Amino acid sequence: MKHKTAALLMVLLYAFFALCGCTKQEEPEKDDMIVIGMSQVGAESDWRQADTASMKSVFTEANGYRLLFDDARQEQENQFVAIRRFIQQKVDYIVVMPITEDGWDAVLKEAKDAGIPVILVDRMVNVKDDSLITAHVGSDFYAEGKKATDWMKEKYSNAEQVNIIHIQGTKGSTPQLGRTAALDDAVKTNPKWKVIARMDGDFTEAKTYEVMKEYLSNRDSLPQIDVVYCENDNEAYGAIKALESFGYKCGKDGVSVISFDATYNALVYCQKGKIALTVECNPLLGPLVESVIKTIEEGKVPEKNRYVEETAFKPEDITEELLASRKY
Ligand code: AHR
Repeated sequence: MKHKTAALLMVLLYAFFALCGCTKQEEPEKDDMIVIGMSQVGAESDWRQADTASMKSVFTEANGYRLLFDDARQEQENQFVAIRRFIQQKVDYIVVMPITEDGWDAVLKEAKDAGIPVILVDRMVNVKDDSLITAHVGSDFYAEGKKATDWMKEKYSNAEQVNIIHIQGTKGSTPQLGRTAALDDAVKTNPKWKVIARMDGDFTEAKTYEVMKEYLSNRDSLPQIDVVYCENDNEAYGAIKALESFGYKCGKDGVSVISFDATYNALVYCQKGKIALTVECNPLLGPLVESVIKTIEEGKVPEKNRYVEETAFKPEDITEELLASRKY
């Protein structure tokens, strides 16, 4: 009798675990797991948090990965330390979202010498030897900037003068370099455009609020501002807060605030008209990184550079369906 009860219990337990999809047999053996050392920039923006969530949802043990995740807290030195640790741990792949572009030659050469493929995500590095990088997955930041400046050309085609405040992202990072270059190129060909101030917002709301407030506080009289070109959504929130506290109106017939990323909150700001244009930058890169790894695991050579498709939104483009379907 005792035996029969025990057997029944076993069957019930097995059925329970099978229904949960959590039977031991379904999980890959620990030794078969692909080990990934990942060095993320930090948590400076909503975009970054969505990117981290995308990586963590793909690189799970259930999917056959052991993820060693390191948050560099916006310090490149922390990325070097993490990568050297991953090399010692003999990971299978190193995935890096580099904070800034310069200074990577030595540490990436160490990874190459150890035979560990390096996959760059989101941003790029500036290295002499291209073979230090196995693949890159991310956005074309210059193209994003061009979407913004094309919109400005149309909007201000009849204007006498366009006064622009430019809030930059982390200096020397790929999105800062690309989005800034697009604005600089457009300013050169539009003589009526004037960059009246350029500040470093470091991709954060707090820093942008601070620098914008300081700039406006130090003027004898408040300047005419037509466009505030913010290099991400969080900077736009900080800029709007500062502008409004000085009595500026953001939106139609007021200051045109431009942002990059088009995360959910920015779409809501845009729907309300406070952001005039938000240019999309897709953070959901986990599945693309996994496809690079799968390609390598199959013994094939992955595409060296993979850029994601992106668009831009104006207030009239923001529908309830779009908001409901936005995943970041
Ligand atoms: O590298 C992507 C950029 O970094 C995003 O635009 C920004 O929000 C993030 O911090």
